[in-house]
Amino acid sequence: MNKTTRKAVIAGNWKMNKTPGEARELIAAIEAEIKTKDVSGVEIVAAVPFVDLPAAAEAAKGTSIKIGAQNVHWAASGAFTGEISVLMLKEIGAEYVVLGHSERRQYFGETDLTVNARVKAALEGDLKVIFCVGELLEERELGITEEVVSRQVKVGLKDISVAQMQNLVIAYEPVWAIGTGKTATSEQAEEVCGAIRRIVSSLYGETVGKATSILYGGSMNAKNADELLSKTNVDGGLIGGASLKAADFARIIAAAI
Ligand code: PGA
Repeated sequence: MNKTTRKAVIAGNWKMNKTPGEARELIAAIEAEIKTKDVSGVEIVAAVPFVDLPAAAEAAKGTSIKIGAQNVHWAASGAFTGEISVLMLKEIGAEYVVLGHSERRQYFGETDLTVNARVKAALEGDLKVIFCVGELLEERELGITEEVVSRQVKVGLKDISVAQMQNLVIAYEPVWAIGTGKTATSEQAEEVCGAIRRIVSSLYGETVGKATSILYGGSMNAKNADELLSKTNVDGGLIGGASLKAADFARIIAAAI
């Protein structure tokens, strides 16, 4: 079995960028870039700030762009000041949610267990999940990349069923490559994405392992996307900086066709 059995996913992670008005413009600009192309083989996602969701969802109506959020709380409702629930996201048109991003782990105290709680709640509530894992530079230098990623995958997917895995993609994002302009080589990306696939197979069986899309993220751009996406186990990308420019994002989508 090979890549053709899995759908390519190109997801933009806008992080804390763009106001609702700007979000509307950027979605329209991306659509203008891709509308003449056959993008039916690519799942295109824009993960936008919470407050941009209604405007982005409205602008994406009738296009092939799916809208996602960048986090969600695990409780259905309650005394969690500043948090957002799955139902709230669904009602304003989010189909996806990015969970476990390294910026959440690094700056906002997110742990493998809290990520797992969020993944569970999102999947139970029918949101699709882009689940992020990746090692720090120190961990790579210590030679424990696979160990770290394996723990993140195993704990993050605790109590997630085989059926739920259909609605989850994994993004391998080496922390040292995020926003630094330092992309992993395609060999490094392939090595770890392949390892993640083996871990998923060990947890869920080979059929699920082969069917799960695994993305690379970390300074992916219009220039290096072809090379990264040419790798057997790299099924797409989670793109930060380059997803904020319609032409660059469209170029990366084209590389995945
Ligand atoms: P970057 O971000 O493409 O700007 O490195 C990727 C990400 O954090 O998802």
